[in-house]
Amino acid sequence: MIEYRNLRVALLGAGSVGAQVVAQLQKHGDELASRVGAGLELVGVAVRDIDAPRTAEIPRELLTTDAESLILGADIVIELIGGIEPARTLIMQALTSGADVVTANKALIATHGPELFAMAEQVGAQLYYEAAVAGAIPIIRPLRDSLAGDHVQRILGIVNGTTNFILDRMDTEGQSLEDALATATELGYAEADPTADIEAYDAAQKAAILASLAFHTTVPIESVYREGITAITAAQVEAARSAGYVIKLLAICERVTDAEGIDGVSARVYPALVPRTHPLAAVHGAKNAVFVEAEAAGDLMFYGAGAGGIETASAVLGDLVSAARRHVVGGPGVAESTNSDLPILPIGSVTTRYHITLLVNDRTGVLATIAALFSDHGVSVETVVQTVGAPSDDGTPAPATLVIGTHEASEAALAATVTALSSIDTVRSVTSVLRVEGS
Ligand code: NDP
Ligand code: HSE
Repeated sequence: MIEYRNLRVALLGAGSVGAQVVAQLQKHGDELASRVGAGLELVGVAVRDIDAPRTAEIPRELLTTDAESLILGADIVIELIGGIEPARTLIMQALTSGADVVTANKALIATHGPELFAMAEQVGAQLYYEAAVAGAIPIIRPLRDSLAGDHVQRILGIVNGTTNFILDRMDTEGQSLEDALATATELGYAEADPTADIEAYDAAQKAAILASLAFHTTVPIESVYREGITAITAAQVEAARSAGYVIKLLAICERVTDAEGIDGVSARVYPALVPRTHPLAAVHGAKNAVFVEAEAAGDLMFYGAGAGGIETASAVLGDLVSAARRHVVGGPGVAESTNSDLPILPIGSVTTRYHITLLVNDRTGVLATIAALFSDHGVSVETVVQTVGAPSDDGTPAPATLVIGTHEASEAALAATVTALSSIDTVRSVTSVLRVEGS
């Protein structure tokens, strides 16, 4: 039986996600109310243009362009506008006025999270953001609550659906990156301007959020090393396939000890070779997955839809129910824990394995020269595969392609090796350098 007063819910934004939040509240509002123990009254929906077409029927009297007034008196504010401003100011105003806030805004949490969390703690409010990483997949709450008693060692995440779709198409259909991007745009996965996806800004924001939570340390977005997928070629995808790998854009958050023995955190995003036997290799299309390695729990994988209006609305509504329950039951909010305060280590401190592809002159002693160069830089070679093409019509020998797999080496040592390789005569070109992750 519901005894508590109705809770006043203000929604900011009624686009892809916001409209589906309204639709789900219209459909399941009574059921959610009985779960919470209080009615959830949608008091208004702030938008930019009241007459814009919507994917859900929203009563016109609920629509307003005055978000600031709507916030006043709300118990819970749901921010689904996106971007930094006015979302940041509106969330600050909502928290200051005592409301709990639910947001899906990864850009804002990744860049202004500490300021927002500090404000929430100061006023005793709660900021929820389950939908900010990997859409419908529960990953924020598992990291913050379920794994709070464990030690997360590493996270490997496929957290951008658009790039996973593109790389999957290149792998399974043999499409070029340009054609796969065009298909992603046609199907509505990629934005008109896909820069944030293919240059991995979106994945980097999510990496910053995941690393901060997993390692109880503020990880600023500027400290996340980032490489997008634009340089990935069909030839690299094909070579990866032949060698038993698939190329995935990974957000990697890891506890790392550098050469000086300093314990810290690495957060980075780049396309990497993933063994086809790894669970992340089976994540196809625009799906997302987050693979967590924890000291006691072992390996865990969270999989599902990383985007989509109704899918993302599921995570938003889960947060809404949590916020509403806290109003009914009372008690303090859960502060973000940054107590570990670990140093963020630069990419040069990271160690991983690599596959380097070289085009070399097929002459006596070339292999020995190249092997010595790796050894001089402290990089241990694990595998070497050489293929030689047919000589040209005039009898000139074809160059050989060498694919060299390394044991674990530091990024700094690998970078120095690649520079040295590029400078010797026998190496015509370094055609590909890819990291190997998940093995
Ligand atoms: P949309 O662009 O579809 O919708 C944005 C909404 O905000 C629109 O309704 C727009 O109004 C409204 N709006 C914009 N500016 C203002 C303003 N100044 N005042 C009031 N309202 C304003 O965004 P999405 O629904 O796609 O995304 C919302 C959030 O969810 C973002 O933070 C995004 O990163 C996140 N997210 C989205 C996912 C997705 O699949 N779409 C997945 C995971 C997270 P109007 O309609 O009148 O233009
Ligand atoms: N552009 C993002 C993606 C949307 O492709 O995954 C979800 O954050």
